Amino acid sequence: MSNEESPMPDAGSREPSTGSATLLWDRQNCVPLTRCLSEDGLVLLLTPAVVPPGSQPSTASDPFEPLGQELAKRHFKVRHVPYTKNGGLTGVHTAFIRKADVIFFVVTGPSTDNEPSQTDLADAVAEACEARPLLVVFCCHVETHEIHQYDFPTVIKATGFSVPDLRAVSSLLLDGEVASSRSTCQLPPRMTTDVPATWSVQPCDYERDLIGIHALWNDNVPRQFHLDAVVLGSLLRRDGYAMHHVVRDTPNGDVLGFCATFTTFADSKEEQLIGSVAALFVKKEFRRRGIGRKLHDEALGRLGKIGGVHRVQLGTTFPRLLYGIPVGHPDTEWFRKRGWPLDLSGPGTGHIRADWLLRFCDTPPLNLASAGLNFRPCELSDSREVLEMVARESERKHAFGWYDQYARIIDSGFIGDVILGFEGSTMVATAITYTSPAGNPTASDIPWASSIGTDVGGVTCICIKDDDPEMVNRRDTVMVRLLCACCNSLGSRGMSEAFLDGLRSNESGVETLGFRQWARYREVWHRIS
Ligand SMILES: CC(C)(COP(=O)(O)OP(=O)(O)OC[C@H]1O[C@@H](n2cnc3c(N)ncnc32)[C@H](O)[C@@H]1OP(=O)(O)O)[C@@H](O)C(=O)NCCC(=O)NCCS
Repeated sequence: MSNEESPMPDAGSREPSTGSATLLWDRQNCVPLTRCLSEDGLVLLLTPAVVPPGSQPSTASDPFEPLGQELAKRHFKVRHVPYTKNGGLTGVHTAFIRKADVIFFVVTGPSTDNEPSQTDLADAVAEACEARPLLVVFCCHVETHEIHQYDFPTVIKATGFSVPDLRAVSSLLLDGEVASSRSTCQLPPRMTTDVPATWSVQPCDYERDLIGIHALWNDNVPRQFHLDAVVLGSLLRRDGYAMHHVVRDTPNGDVLGFCATFTTFADSKEEQLIGSVAALFVKKEFRRRGIGRKLHDEALGRLGKIGGVHRVQLGTTFPRLLYGIPVGHPDTEWFRKRGWPLDLSGPGTGHIRADWLLRFCDTPPLNLASAGLNFRPCELSDSREVLEMVARESERKHAFGWYDQYARIIDSGFIGDVILGFEGSTMVATAITYTSPAGNPTASDIPWASSIGTDVGGVTCICIKDDDPEMVNRRDTVMVRLLCACCNSLGSRGMSEAFLDGLRSNESGVETLGFRQWARYREVWHRIS
């Protein structure tokens, strides 16, 4: 055992004849442990590598062994794994956490200004635990208000880590209370007065929560946005890029509130990320009790802590749920109050964007002059030029995630679904087309075309070099012809309608072609400094 962590002067330094343990709060409702653990359940005990006072590092035994032994007496399987605060949360810890049914994290020292604290590490463990119950045991003097800065679901406090203290902790855990432990169960005072103490924001667990999340989604969004649970699940599950949060009811675990967040690369450089608060819902019967605010603040706080996130949007581009907040949404004021800029008309400040739909049979074919433009499917030899144009244009137009979409499709067997436009031999425009049944990667990121109908194809990431002084035609001229080429391509693949996402709401060229607006959103984002 390492002696790198010195014990607290008061922790375990006395050998009192009776120990004392207090249950400060238990939002998971898991004390006594039989509430959340079957007899063959696996308990993971993460304890600091400390030497008991008065012992030599070379001869000292682990002071937390008695705790493990007491728990094991009740037939629970106990894995006892030490940690050091400098070593942090290692792959070994994470692997054990994934196998455990309940995790205990013992803290023996206070936070100091200059170095990572055990409590910070407990916070990292809380994240790694996802939906698994975590009990943080403070075996040292600690002010309750210090613990409140974190959001631990269950907290126990003992006066030290002497054998009697640890026995008191285990009695508390196993029986709820014993004579020698001054067990009390009180909820902590909160930072804000109107946030009920019982709302705990937890990481979403797809297996457990998807049914509840799906019900929330379909109960709250207008009918046109209703989705199949499988499709919603596939959009939400983005390992490494998704961080979703739930507030669950106790004790039945029903989802009362849900907030979906994603991170996406902003551009080709893979340094800057866009964070998105993609959806936020609270069950109707539980509104105006602080759940929405708790989820919102927690989600934003967590996005802000991710290195590289420099901008956060309300809504999401890829994977697409809602592009922004739907125009006329009854809770627009709620989001405005939370600081989202919704009153201006510039990019990211409430500017209206629209999804558009065209039924080919509604519009007679247009006989447009070519205007010197020609269109064809993308080929491998075009890749570099396309990606360069998309990188430049998407940065200029704040178009999040376009580069990734192009990079993915160019790398797939669907490169020919990218339609290119040329003035003479100069590339001036590009767009991605997709038809969902065919497995095009972009289709797996935008559900709406296929949710409208299996014969609806999509056109997205429309990129026109409209600031190029060399370009002869006006933007609208290019746009209309590019869209015609895309619709022809979709028609040749058996589609009878075309869906355009997230375009300007006053896109006159699109109207000329007969497209009608299918949905309208306010585009909202702000920078994080
Ligand atoms: C918006 C929503 C998340 C708010 O959740 P909630 O749990 O009711 O909100 P809270 O109780 O945390 O609200 C906190 C504050 O907002 C106020 N508030 C609640 N609903 C409000 C509303 N519709 N408009 C304005 N203020 C509102 C509360 O009075 C409280 O005010 P205070 O900060 O001055 O004390 C919830 O109404 C909802 O799920 N709506 C549907 C969301 C949706 O359609 N999402 C899709 C697009 S993302």
